[in-house]
Parts: sequence; C-alpha cells; structure tokens
Amino acid sequence: TFRGQVTLDGPSGTGKSSVARGVAAHLGAAYLDTGAMYRAATVAVLDAGVDPADADAVARTVAAARIEVGTDAATELVQVDGVDVAARIRGVEVTRAVSAVSAVPAVRRQLVDQQRALVASAGPVVVEGRDIGTVVLPDATLKVYLTASPEARAQRRAGQLGITAPDEVAVLAADLRRRDEFDSSREDSPLRPAADAVVVDSTDLDQQGVVDRVVELATSTV
Ligand code: C5P
Repeated sequence: TFRGQVTLDGPSGTGKSSVARGVAAHLGAAYLDTGAMYRAATVAVLDAGVDPADADAVARTVAAARIEVGTDAATELVQVDGVDVAARIRGVEVTRAVSAVSAVPAVRRQLVDQQRALVASAGPVVVEGRDIGTVVLPDATLKVYLTASPEARAQRRAGQLGITAPDEVAVLAADLRRRDEFDSSREDSPLRPAADAVVVDSTDLDQQGVVDRVVELATSTV
C-alpha cells in the first residue's frame, strides 16, 4: 500500500484535477486541491467588494475569512465562512481574478500553512497545485509536473465547458495563456517544475493513461 505524498503541479488545462482524483482513488489516498483554496479566497475578496489588484486589502480580507476544503477525492467540499462555494469557484468571475489574489505573498503564506496542516493529518495524499513540489511539500515521495501542448489544453477545457465554436475555443486558449504567464512570472512561488519532478506530457495520452503512469511512478518510488 502507498503511504507517501504525491505532488501534482502544472499549468491549467492539463487535466491535473481529474488525474489527481483518479490517482488518489487508485492509491486509496486523500486528495487536496490547493487551487480550490485560492479560488475560495478569491470568492471572499470579490464578496467583500475588494479590488483583486489591491494587495493589502486582499491580504486583510483573506486573513479574516475561514476557508475550508475537504480532502476526500470522491466529494468536493469548499466553504468560505461556512457557506458552500464549490460551484461558484469554477465561474468566470473567480477564474479571472484568482491569479491576482494568489500572487499576494501574505495570502500564499496563510494558505500554504493551512495546506501543510491538512496534509499532516491526512496520511497518504495526492496534492494538486502550482507550487506543491517546489514550496509546499519539498520532501514529497513523488513529484509530478504535468504538461500538455497549448492546443491540447484549450481543447480539453473547451470539452469540459461544452464549447465547440473555434472563436470561443480561441478565447479560452488566450485566457489559459494569460493565467499561466501570470502564474509563471510572479515573484512569490512561480509555476515551475521542481528540480526532482518527473515531467509527464499528457498531450497524446488519455486521462486513464496519465493516471496509470502516475500510479506506476508512485508505487515504484516507495
Ligand atoms: O488549479 P486551478 O486552476 O484551480 O488554480 C487556480 C489558480 O490558483 C491558478 O491559476 C493559480 O493562480 C492559483 N494557484 C496557485 N498555487 C497553487 C494552486 C493554484 O497560485 N498551489
């Protein structure tokens, strides 16, 4: 049985979440979606009427918010101050503002502390995000960095949203690019593979193929 920690980092639209859930289910491990925590923090910021670009106000607002996420791969629990925001965190408004909120160092410190505490009490776990292998869990058993071509990522996201019109797919592709550039170029904990990460390219693999590959890596490293 698997007893370690798997980190799964990479840009948007690589199928990270589905893969992370699949791997967790396969390994009988807990699952932590750290993107959901930054998205929940963004809900708190928007609901307070705070400008996501105002770092001080963002930091204060998130510090005062109670952000809760579950660690069970089968159910999605995301709450802000006791209110279920699981559906809202996937909306365009939150998606547009989340990179600005997650670039605020005080927000990162708060959520990283919370992530480490959740992991400490979770046992075997799969943790998904951008900086898990580099910052949150530098001693993880297995670090995976998931990539895919920009076209494959835009197509995957379009499929999830039921979008087929080429001009709408192009808008999605532009949004993915904008968010990744922002996440990769920020000062604090930029998106990049850890030095000891295994890079898995999902462009030509289906979801099950990626899950199988990560499970194989996880069970052979322990
Ligand atoms: O993975 P997801 O698309 O839900 O992440 C949303 C945003 O949260 C990312 O674009 C990034 O700005 C931020 N994020 C982060 N660090 C993480 C996870 C997510 O900065 N560990």
